[in-house]
Amino acid sequence: MTTDLAQLKDWRFSIDNEDIAWAVFDKEGTSTNTLGRRPLEELGLIIARAEELARTKAAQGLIFLSGKEKNFIVGADINEFEGFGSESQVIDSIRQVNDQLDRLEKLPIPVVCAIHGLCLGGGLELALACHWRIADREEGTRVGFPEVKLGIFPGFNGTARSIRQAGAMNAMTAMLQGSMLRANVARAQGLVDELVDTHHKLRWSARRAVLQKRKSKPAGFLKDRLRQWPIRGYLADQMRAKTKAKVREEHYPAPFRLIDLFDRYGGDFRAMKSAETRLFAPLMVGNTSRALRRVFKLMEMLKAQAPKSSAFKPLRAHIIGAGTMGADIASVCVASGMEVSLQDLSEDQLRKALDGAKSYFRRRLKSKTAVDAAMARLIADPKGEHVPRADVVIEAIVEKLDVKQKLFADLETRMKPGAVMATNTSSLPIEDIAAPLKDPGRLIGIHFFNPVPQMPLVEIVRGPGSRQDEVDKGCAFVTAIDKFPLVVKSVPGFLVNRVLAPYMTGAMQKVEEGIAKEKIDEAAKAFGMPMGPIELADTVGLDVCLHVGEILNPGSNAAKASKLAEMVAAGKKGKKSGEGFYKWKDGKPERQERTYNKSELDELGRELVEPLIRECQKAVEEGVVSSADLADAGMIFGTGFAPFRGGPLYFKAHEARPATLASVPGRQAAE
Ligand code: NAI
Repeated sequence: MTTDLAQLKDWRFSIDNEDIAWAVFDKEGTSTNTLGRRPLEELGLIIARAEELARTKAAQGLIFLSGKEKNFIVGADINEFEGFGSESQVIDSIRQVNDQLDRLEKLPIPVVCAIHGLCLGGGLELALACHWRIADREEGTRVGFPEVKLGIFPGFNGTARSIRQAGAMNAMTAMLQGSMLRANVARAQGLVDELVDTHHKLRWSARRAVLQKRKSKPAGFLKDRLRQWPIRGYLADQMRAKTKAKVREEHYPAPFRLIDLFDRYGGDFRAMKSAETRLFAPLMVGNTSRALRRVFKLMEMLKAQAPKSSAFKPLRAHIIGAGTMGADIASVCVASGMEVSLQDLSEDQLRKALDGAKSYFRRRLKSKTAVDAAMARLIADPKGEHVPRADVVIEAIVEKLDVKQKLFADLETRMKPGAVMATNTSSLPIEDIAAPLKDPGRLIGIHFFNPVPQMPLVEIVRGPGSRQDEVDKGCAFVTAIDKFPLVVKSVPGFLVNRVLAPYMTGAMQKVEEGIAKEKIDEAAKAFGMPMGPIELADTVGLDVCLHVGEILNPGSNAAKASKLAEMVAAGKKGKKSGEGFYKWKDGKPERQERTYNKSELDELGRELVEPLIRECQKAVEEGVVSSADLADAGMIFGTGFAPFRGGPLYFKAHEARPATLASVPGRQAAE
């Protein structure tokens, strides 16, 4: 029976006059190819058709291509992951896909995959089941396995196939780090077999690969000595130690299960394939992956705050104030391709900012040409002559209301119509700064966090009079510099500082009550925070913490009379002064290392985050952000709140759910 492919929705299938079959993946109704249920079912039909064509000698090869402009396949469709209620459902569904990919691999005709754009996760696993992979060298082309960031690892037999193609070291590193490789690196590692300069050459090269019956040479199970016992066991232990230094197993089990899989089955291709599914399924239905998938969606939700239809395309920014914040904001804008003019009263400050920008570009952009081009886009503008040309003007000068008001009154007469007018204030109400303006609705807050290059979140502060189109443009600007915007109401502390403050204050009170600061910090880290609250307070600066406390409780003398105030008065400002709660040496706090009882730490960690959760709930009730999801997103991307817990409010709502951990297989000494 001939398989009818005329009705395909997500693929286009055709056979050319040289009897080469072409399968073009062009998922219906979207600009991004993801492997969901329907595309995979249709892929099954294509494979069945290719088997018939090979049997009847009606085709001499099969080529996979993407019909999208920017991506081959970005991975599996994570929206469909939520449909899995049990491990057995995961196993059944994966088995069908893996059987398909096995049949694809066994086709007696050459199967070639031509890659342009992103080829990630399930997309790379499909590519690895083909006989020959060609990628173009264009900037946007990347291959990789990002699964570990979603709390899983490759599940379409990509673990075994990537090790077969690229060797254990390369493949395991790629899977454990979730990094995206450029085409030339993927070629050097063996994940890709051939490179072409541009996507225009892909079809031609793929056709030639079919005609020449090209077949990739795997790294080889025998050749790859790293896969043999006992080297493999030694290697696995090294990987475990490296991974442990970065994450805790009870928080992020996926990389540890992947290492177990390699350790036990890495010497046997078939055994590894079937064990992959067994170890994958519990991760997929486990709490960590659920929460990390949620984080991924929250990220998309933040990006969606910038309206897609916005005609506003910021190309030039003018930053006023070249201090801690302004200098870094300018560097980040330039690194994202904008032209930036930087203004400050102090020439010395401007010089320092330009030097700092150069070191940042060297670290981030690497090549001398790119660094030179970036420096050419950054202009010192002490008199603000570039203000009339700017699409976005951001003020980051001293935190004084009258000085800011005066500055904006002048800017209002000089800025071009339609340009964004923004302040980076951390504590002054937007409406107060805007009050003397002729058009106060134009001003918004664009509140960056320190250090600007590392912090992904930027709060877009809407004053009671700020116009929606200005807020939208602010969001568009923030996404244009690759950060996540979060729209917040103009209230003291906005969202992030307001919610963080009671958590930090609570932790400091516990120190006063006599609990060791080391224990408090360890408990917070055991909960999943990137840094303990006491170390964080010292890092931010105790003077800054005190100032934030005063903003949040104006008129109250509590902050002024606190232990914190005493420490600041005594010159103990934290890391920057060499002493705060900790003594600091070579940028590190001196700690009394001790081991603590796990259940005590768990209890203390939970107590520490309670004020944060409560404040987050209050902020949502008061409409500081428009939803609980956005509040969670703000705390994850603005403070690093334990991503695997899905955000403070999600955690609170789900904390009763028991943790599901995949079972750990024992090591197998010999195959
Ligand atoms: P900073 O003191 O490091 O830098 C301020 C700069 O503005 C100085 O170089 C000063 O010479 C310049 N300046 C002062 N008045 C000026 C004027 N009229 N025209 C041009 N330049 C002028 O201050 P920082 O820390 O960078 O803060 C700037 C703003 O950003 C403040 O509003 C602050 O509240 C806010 N902010 C600060 C954060 C931080 O962690 N430092 C975090 C988020 C916001």
